[in-house]
Amino acid sequence: MHFDVWTKGLSTLGTECLVVGVFEEGELTEEARTVDAAAGGKLGKLMARGDFAGKSGETLLMTDLAGIAAARVLLVGMGPGKSLNRKAWRKACANAVSALARTRIASAAFAIHRPAGRDLDDYYFGRTIAEVVGATLYRVNDLKTAKKPKPPALGTVLAGPVRGGGAAAARRGMAHGAGVASAAKVQRDLANLPANVCTPTYLAEQARAIAKAHSSVKVDVLDEAGIRREKMGCLLAVTQGSAQPPRFIVLEYRGAKAAKAPIVLVGKGITFDTGGISLKDPPGMDEMKYDMSGAAAVLAAITLAAELRLPLRVVGLVASCENMPGSRAVKPGDIVTSASGQTVEILNTDAEGRLVLCDALYYARRYEPAAVVDIATLTGACVIALGAHHSGVMSNDDALARELVAAGARADDRAWQLPLTEDYGEQLKSNFADFANIGGREGGAITAAAYLAKFTQGLKWAHLDIAGTAYQGGTNKGSTGRPTPLLADFLIHRAGR
Ligand code: BES
Ligand code: MN
Ligand code: ZN
Repeated sequence: MHFDVWTKGLSTLGTECLVVGVFEEGELTEEARTVDAAAGGKLGKLMARGDFAGKSGETLLMTDLAGIAAARVLLVGMGPGKSLNRKAWRKACANAVSALARTRIASAAFAIHRPAGRDLDDYYFGRTIAEVVGATLYRVNDLKTAKKPKPPALGTVLAGPVRGGGAAAARRGMAHGAGVASAAKVQRDLANLPANVCTPTYLAEQARAIAKAHSSVKVDVLDEAGIRREKMGCLLAVTQGSAQPPRFIVLEYRGAKAAKAPIVLVGKGITFDTGGISLKDPPGMDEMKYDMSGAAAVLAAITLAAELRLPLRVVGLVASCENMPGSRAVKPGDIVTSASGQTVEILNTDAEGRLVLCDALYYARRYEPAAVVDIATLTGACVIALGAHHSGVMSNDDALARELVAAGARADDRAWQLPLTEDYGEQLKSNFADFANIGGREGGAITAAAYLAKFTQGLKWAHLDIAGTAYQGGTNKGSTGRPTPLLADFLIHRAGR
């Protein structure tokens, strides 16, 4: 996809289609007024006749307007002008892309009135357009044997108007947005794969492919023997019921010199979570193929850092295995020793995410990181607390938590901080080991984080619980690509841009 800005002369732009926003109740946007004036009042007439109301979700393709160089004008309803915010604007852009994707239009110039002010500066204007185009054109990588429809023809998108000296910032935003969209596609494609294809071995192969494609990325994969050498007893306990071998993946993006403290991203890579001996209920269990979404987000973030050549060091750690019941599976009450040396009583084998993460978080220490962020579909309790709207953020460092929440707000991929106070750790008491892997039903998202906190003392660490945000169920079942936009924004800001 080729992106660029336009600055003026809407009616004479050389493009196949002008995309123009129209507010509800007949109110024309500034850009629509320009088109209306050039086309001898055609838009006004159309609206007066009631053929287009400007409601959100409405689109109308018009052809060969006199006075307009472009052969087509696509009207896009934006809802009431007074309540135009970023969300409504994003929605209007996405509706326009969907409408264009149903045609053979190859180039379009967007003139969708944007909300004013700090909310959407030229950089985020460009970035959001590119992200929305990428996300809207995404097609699920299904394994249906029917012939796939032709991909949309859309290959060039101009967006504007960008006034004053804003063009460079908007173009930079577009380049970043295209990177975010392709990183989100990395996450979505991996997460959508069935668990019989996307195994720990497969994830490791994908990590190797990323390193092969980018000379700035190095990869190291530990097999079961390597994991044993690292004494990752908790990860080994989760994997022991499965015939699939585990993998511990280490990816390192070197965009800054070795002396710079890296950001370490840690992903939960459970390629299927049956619950183990603490077996889950059957309804919706297929969705537990998404339990490697954190791992996929880490691979996506490393790809993004490499593609945008961010001046950072980013280490990606992925702890990957299946959680299966079997004659060799770990049992409730079993006690294992984590890589940190602390012992854990596994009271519920379905609380496996924290077990694989605690060994990965311990491994992160050797990098003397500037910050560690783990990403995990960790608890159903987080889905109950925040729904599908916000990812949960829990941290031992308030500044880091605020940084992640701010990144999510800027990227329209929102997260909300939950309080990780000492109290929650007390729920993990065990009579037989240093602590248990569960803390009861109350505050379940936070007690999971409190468990992880036992392994991150002295590190600047934050935990992102994406159980509610990483994928959708229902008729539109599929990976959402979240929290890749949040992580991308976090990294881009850490890189000082
Ligand atoms: N992968 C699940 C969490 C999950 C639940 C993700 C629903 C997405 C949707 C995790 O491994 C799990 O099973 N957590 C348990 C923890 C409990 C046993 C303390 C849960 O949330 O029920
Ligand atoms: Mn589980
Ligand atoms: Zn799980």
